[in-house]
Order: sequence, then structure tokens, then C-alpha cells
Amino acid sequence: MFMKDKNKSVKLAILGIGTVGGGTFRIIENSHDLILQRAGVDLRVSRVLARSPEKAYRLGIPEKAVTSHIEDILEDDSIDVVVEAIGGIEPATSYMLKAMQKGKSVVTPNKAAVAKNWAILHEAAEKNDVTFRFEAAVGGGIPIITSIKEQLVGNNFTEVRGILNGTSNYILTKMADDNLPYDEVLKDAQDKGFAEADPTADVEGLDAANKLSILIALCFNMYVDPETIPTRGISRINEADIRSAEENKQKIKLIASARLEEGKLTCKVGPELLTEEDVLYNVNDEYNAISVTGDAVGEIMMRGKGAGAFPTGSAVVGDIVSASSTILLKRHA
Ligand SMILES: NC(=O)c1ccc[n+]([C@@H]2O[C@H](COP(=O)([O-])OP(=O)(O)OC[C@H]3O[C@@H](n4cnc5c(N)ncnc54)[C@H](OP(=O)(O)O)[C@@H]3O)[C@@H](O)[C@H]2O)c1
Repeated sequence: MFMKDKNKSVKLAILGIGTVGGGTFRIIENSHDLILQRAGVDLRVSRVLARSPEKAYRLGIPEKAVTSHIEDILEDDSIDVVVEAIGGIEPATSYMLKAMQKGKSVVTPNKAAVAKNWAILHEAAEKNDVTFRFEAAVGGGIPIITSIKEQLVGNNFTEVRGILNGTSNYILTKMADDNLPYDEVLKDAQDKGFAEADPTADVEGLDAANKLSILIALCFNMYVDPETIPTRGISRINEADIRSAEENKQKIKLIASARLEEGKLTCKVGPELLTEEDVLYNVNDEYNAISVTGDAVGEIMMRGKGAGAFPTGSAVVGDIVSASSTILLKRHA
């Protein structure tokens, strides 16, 4: 539909073609013309790093674009942006750092790597004058990071609070609505793909702690190692706890929160009893929500899908297009 325009061309590599990498690829394929029309970026996925190449072939990615060697991507000077979607801390962090050293911008949904290696990754981006974005790392499709960094930049924040893990929210909602025990709901969540085979990071609050660490860094300009955030999960919540909450017109939710008062930061992740008046009370099932309080804007809340190939891919694509716009501006300067 649109003419190829070399001046608008941005080439992309995706590392890891699983849930998020695959969703990102499909959105780019489906929305190529829309992105060109709206943002003036002619975006092409030119290489994919895959451990299981058949997953890439199933998406229609040609064999010559698929590699299992990271060097094929790092040494390819035509690649402008690298999306790291393999997950985990290593080799993900090393791949991102090496890509930046090669002058490539980096986009990632990987909250564990971003939270653990916050300073190293930001310093590398600055040193190499490249863009580093991670919108999908907190709240999946909810554009909370860009909102905090850009639209709300004039605020001093006093509080950030949210339901940051869809799996635990789904489990708590089903335990309450369907009157079922924790183990049964967890199994159902795993069958439906809302929970991983190993659900520890989700149900023990570790995933929420990673996301809270990122939100604290953005809102309060302070780094807190996620491992030092006081964290409790939901695995010990039983039916009696749920019923007792209901009798008091309350709900149990896994809440991640941080507050800055007179220069002192307090933060925690754990199950809390919420009343009907709480903005997070009606955030149910696999949904996420984040509320931030700024001195200028007051309290503001965003709610949406915190996981899944397309909601997460939506945020990754937004970051890719933003990084691409900067690349095109520099190219034409
Ligand atoms: N899933 C979500 O809804 C969601 C939401 C927000 C953020 N995230 C984050 O996004 C990242 C990816 O998650 P995901 O759910 O997409 O995981 P996933 O479905 O397991 O996909 C990861 C892919 O990376 C591949 N991979 C792993 N190590 C590799 C390596 N060394 N070289 C090449 N490929 C490698 C895996 O290959 P195999 O197929 O061989 O295992 C898999 O295809 C994680 O950091 C996660 O926390 C996910």
C-alpha cells in the first residue's frame, strides 16, 4: 500500500520468539502500514534469535531471518533496534548491553533484568547514546512508564500503588467469586495459560517486587533492589480469609506500594484488605492497575491487561516506534 521509503526504514531484531516476541512480531506485521502512516516509520523485522526455530517458522518468519547465534545480530550494522524478549536476567542483560555497545537501541519487557540491573543498563544507554525503553515491563499493555516519565514529568510523586501481577489477581478473584480453594484455582489458571508451570515468582510476590522497584526508580529517583523490598505472596491465603473479608464487605488483593514522606521511602508487596472506596477494589481477574499520586495532578489510575502476547506486544511496539523516531531524527540531522 505504501511506497518503500529508505529514509523511513528502521530494521529490527527480536531476541526470543515466545509469547511476547511472537505477539510483537504479529503486531508489526499486521500494523506496518498503520505505523508508517501514523509515525512515519517503515518498520521491518530483519532478524530473529530463536532457541526453537520452529516457533519462528510457524509465525511465517523466513528461514534466512532466523538465527541461534547472537553475534549474527550484534555484528549486523543494518539493525537499528533490538527487542530482548527471552526473559530472565542472563544472558538477557549481556545481550542488551552488547547491543547498546554496538549502537543499537534496546526495547525489553523483561522486568527481572531491568529491576536487577537498572543502573548498568541506563548507564550503557547513556554512554552509547541509544534509546533504552521498557514500557511492557510494568503493567503489560498499560502505558504507565511513559506517562510517569513524560506526561506527568512535572509532578513530585508521593505515592505509587498497584495490582501488578495478573496471575495472583486472577487467583484471588476466582477464590472469592467461585468459592474455590487456592490449589484448585491455581491449577485452573495454569490450564488457561494465566499462570506459569512454575508460578513462584507470580504467587510469592517476586514479580510484583520487580515491577515496584522499577516504579520507585521512576517516581522517586531512588533505586531499591527488588530483593530488599519486604514481600509476601498469596499462597497462604485460604477460603476462611476470603470469607471473612467478604463478611466485612472487603476484598483481598496483592498490593505493591511505595510512599515518600518527608524524604523517607517505605515500600512493600503483600496481600491487603481493600474496602469498596479503594480505587483498586474493582480491579478483578487478570487485570492490572496502577495508581500514582503527584503534587500537581493528584491521584490518577490506569487499568488494563498486564500480560498476554498482544497487550504486552502493544507496549513493546510503542517503545520500538518511539526509539525508531529518535533514530530517524538523528539520521536526518
Ligand atoms: N508473557 C507475558 O504476558 C509477559 C508480560 C510482560 C512481560 N513479560 C516478560 O517478557 C519476557 C518474555 O516472556 P514470554 O512470556 O514471552 O516468555 P516465553 O514465552 O518463554 O518466550 C521466551 C522465548 O525466548 C526463547 N529463549 C530463551 N532463552 C533464549 C536464548 N538464550 N536464546 C534464544 N532464545 C531464547 C525461548 O525459547 P524456547 O521456546 O526454546 O523456550 C522462548 O521462545 C520475560 O522477561 C517476561 O517477564 C511477559
